Amino acid sequence: MSKRIGILTSGGDCAGLNATIRAVVLRAAQENWSVLGIHNGTGGLMAATPQAELLDPRKCDTQMLRLGGTLLGTTNKGDPFRFPMPDGTLLDRTPEIIAGYRALGLDALIGVGGDGSLNILRRIAAGGQLNLVGIPKTIDNDVAMTEAAVGHSTAVLAATEALDRLQPTAASHSRVMILEVMGRDSGHIAIAAAIAGGADVALIPEIPWHLPSIVRQIETIKASGRNFALVVVAEAVAGEAGRPVARITAEGKRRYGGVGHDIAAMIEEATGAETRVTVLGHVQRGGSPDPRDRLLSAAFGVHAVDLIKAERYDRMVAWWNRRVVDVPLDKVVCRSRTVDPDGPLVRTARGLGICLGD
Ligand code: F6P
Repeated sequence: MSKRIGILTSGGDCAGLNATIRAVVLRAAQENWSVLGIHNGTGGLMAATPQAELLDPRKCDTQMLRLGGTLLGTTNKGDPFRFPMPDGTLLDRTPEIIAGYRALGLDALIGVGGDGSLNILRRIAAGGQLNLVGIPKTIDNDVAMTEAAVGHSTAVLAATEALDRLQPTAASHSRVMILEVMGRDSGHIAIAAAIAGGADVALIPEIPWHLPSIVRQIETIKASGRNFALVVVAEAVAGEAGRPVARITAEGKRRYGGVGHDIAAMIEEATGAETRVTVLGHVQRGGSPDPRDRLLSAAFGVHAVDLIKAERYDRMVAWWNRRVVDVPLDKVVCRSRTVDPDGPLVRTARGLGICLGD
């Protein structure tokens, strides 16, 4: 039976979204199914006339595979269950989203999102009996039940390349270089980049840090005859005041950023070393997906369509034990996968002599 699939990207963008969309379209074309790309996440379904375009498999070329961002647009604002209206009220707009799905004549919807988006989509799908399949994407790599999410690997590459560039300038000026990376409440980017980029210190939200431990590391480095140090700081670690540096947005969301400056000032004062800070920011989200993210996007996109073919809904595709699998969405949402303080990455970092601040 012919099917019409909708696909939307939701939440913060990352590298690999276009590669994911492409994989879905190419696999669906093998079944002679059509794919509608919905614009701006659930925003496109909410519109009075649903905003979507038919995705032509002939246009899903290898350019699309390489392209950063998302051709469909996305949003990480406005919970549709409590959507902020121009008059200041909050409205449940999920009935409009369900109506949009029906108006487009969709048989199934693929939602590409992080845990927040997948949670919202799952609740909408349950309310409207929509056929939903989730694909995990986030640079933070904090989606439960999957070892990898689309976008994380490319973000780690950006952070590693930043360390590669910071090392020579740090050595030239005898400085301590602080690199602040994204990741929200998980330290996956920070710990991976610290290992791959040869950092001396890695501070992650999962392990509370103490200044004397960092000072000791920097003094040991100095005593060994090395004149510089590289410090990676995850954006959500505690700052000088003992809590993360964040501001609350108008929507009540926490926006991290700036803790690297707090930590730099403390290190400078305690060690006398000249310090500089780089806040890497959205550079980690943009850019062409690396090979690992391209592979993941391909495997996830193909498997998502296979799930629809088997009419197995309310599931998320996942990467586990070197294979693409699928898991029930209710086991994914409202859980976060943070860095295991006793896990292999932390053990590897410790084994290399990287100071984790504890
Ligand atoms: O969740 C992805 C992420 O990039 C986080 O690592 C970061 O804290 C946040 O999104 C930034 O969000 P925004 O794009 O709204 O600034």
